[in-house]
Amino acid sequence: MAVASVAAALLAALGGALWLAARRFSGSSGQRRQGGGDPGLMHGKTVLITGANSGLGRATAGELLRLGARVIMGCRDRARAEEAAGQLRQELGQAGGLGPDATDGQLVVKELDLASLRSVRAFCQELLQEEPRLDVLINNAGVFQCPYTKTEDGFEMQFGVNHLGHFLLTNLLLGLLKSSAPSRIVVVSSKLYKYGDINFEDLNSEQSYNKSFCYSRSKLANILFTRELAHRLEGTNVTVNVLHPGIVRTNLGRHIHIPLLARPLFNLVSWAFFKTPLEGAQTSIYLASSPDVEGVSGRYFGDCKEEELLPKAMDESVARKLWDISEVMVGILK
Ligand SMILES: NC(=O)c1ccc[n+]([C@@H]2O[C@H](COP(=O)([O-])OP(=O)(O)OC[C@H]3O[C@@H](n4cnc5c(N)ncnc54)[C@H](OP(=O)(O)O)[C@@H]3O)[C@@H](O)[C@H]2O)c1
Repeated sequence: MAVASVAAALLAALGGALWLAARRFSGSSGQRRQGGGDPGLMHGKTVLITGANSGLGRATAGELLRLGARVIMGCRDRARAEEAAGQLRQELGQAGGLGPDATDGQLVVKELDLASLRSVRAFCQELLQEEPRLDVLINNAGVFQCPYTKTEDGFEMQFGVNHLGHFLLTNLLLGLLKSSAPSRIVVVSSKLYKYGDINFEDLNSEQSYNKSFCYSRSKLANILFTRELAHRLEGTNVTVNVLHPGIVRTNLGRHIHIPLLARPLFNLVSWAFFKTPLEGAQTSIYLASSPDVEGVSGRYFGDCKEEELLPKAMDESVARKLWDISEVMVGILK
């Protein structure tokens, strides 16, 4: 009897594993969709990607390089960034994906800590001195549900990095983006924006801190920022769009504690159901490179298609107020 039960359990486990594997390899969550056969699509274009050493940013960098772009990786840790850059060069070289002019200059690492306004300013100053053009800015870096910490300037970490650091970065680079037009800004948000609100009375979460709410709030801020910026950029030929990548297997969950015994199950589920970084990066790549979205601005995308937003993400007065307060917080009020 016991033997029969064990055999049944083993058969069930095997069946489950086969089903998960079949699901994983059915290609349902999408492989490379854009530019698969057009390695010259981004030739002559310079792209800046924040947080390009890991997860979605790294996958986006690899694919845009493959499409011929010159890619600047804006990363907070030079060693991690150089390691990722070395791997990208190797992967692309092996795949024969680097064009004839793909020297080291095609992939550039620069230090950028979005938790420090000083670092953002220094980064922009150097970039503006060195780069004659910037065709695409991808605001990708993010921190997720970290314990309560503050940035160098005293902002709650998730709001500070995900929204305010990118807010200053974008504003300081707008002149170069305008002079390089037609150019694009791509903002990586999350569907979890739905659970956030912009509580103007406690933006630094000093009265109370809920790590999930603060992540969602920062991702709602990404969308409101995009929509307000799209208004401000009308007529400039600089577009800005925002996306959610879906659920992707990256290092984003580094602050989430999963009990040791539950880890194998979590790994199996994430392997079966989460997107790979390259799958998750498809919408970023699409918005950065596809001719389909030329001139499209202020929209929200998922899986390379436009999606609807909740009313709270389209509230123009909240978007304007957030913009005005962000200007004061990062010190660029005219
Ligand atoms: N993965 C998902 O399921 C998912 C879902 C929805 C939205 N997103 C969004 O996708 C974006 C990319 O995340 P990911 O999933 O690729 O996670 P990831 O693998 O953890 O990558 C995040 C990147 O952001 C960088 N970063 C964090 N803090 C920074 C700072 N202060 N200054 C500069 N860079 C900083 C990280 O650098 P280090 O490596 O040095 O830490 C890393 O390069 C995020 O905006 C995230 O909110 C992800």
